Amino acid sequence: MMKSKSIQLFGIALLLVWLAACGGTKGNDATSQESAGDAAEGKSLFYQATIGDGDAPGCVTCHSLELDVVIVGPSQAGLATRAGTRVPNQSAEEYIRNSIIEPNAYIVDGFAEGGMYQNYATDLSAEQIDDLVAFALTLK
Ligand code: HEC
Repeated sequence: MMKSKSIQLFGIALLLVWLAACGGTKGNDATSQESAGDAAEGKSLFYQATIGDGDAPGCVTCHSLELDVVIVGPSQAGLATRAGTRVPNQSAEEYIRNSIIEPNAYIVDGFAEGGMYQNYATDLSAEQIDDLVAFALTLK
């Protein structure tokens, strides 16, 4: 009788240890994602018809992900590969980020200045911009 009760208690203790361990793992995941943007989140932002606080036009209304398909802006197929070669001393990440927050800093050949929506720097949160950059960096 005594014996089965202590086995029962041991089982409960094990369960508690297991639950605590699972909670701890979840906490770690959250902190490890803190610094970088989330590409999956950026992808769903990219496909929204409107984006941000002021309902700005979404990226997909002007940019195709199919090779050489121009809607209003250049296709973003292969963007991550050429982004690092656009502006001297600018990494792919820096170039893509600048293209979003300061679109007239560099105008892609064959396109007009002002063609890209101009106010994403204020319409989008820093996190949304990070996520869009992370997604763009997957377009190799
Ligand atoms: C109203 C149309 C329009 C919208 C909306 C738009 N863009 Fe653009 N985008 C353009 C045009 C036109 C260009 C080329 C002219 C230039 O360089 O500014 C461009 C250029 C770019 C470039 C540089 C591409 C290259 O090949 O070097 C990036 C990156 C970019 N856009 C990202 C985005 C993202 C991300 C969004 C959504 C948050 C977005 N754009 C929304 C029209 C648009």
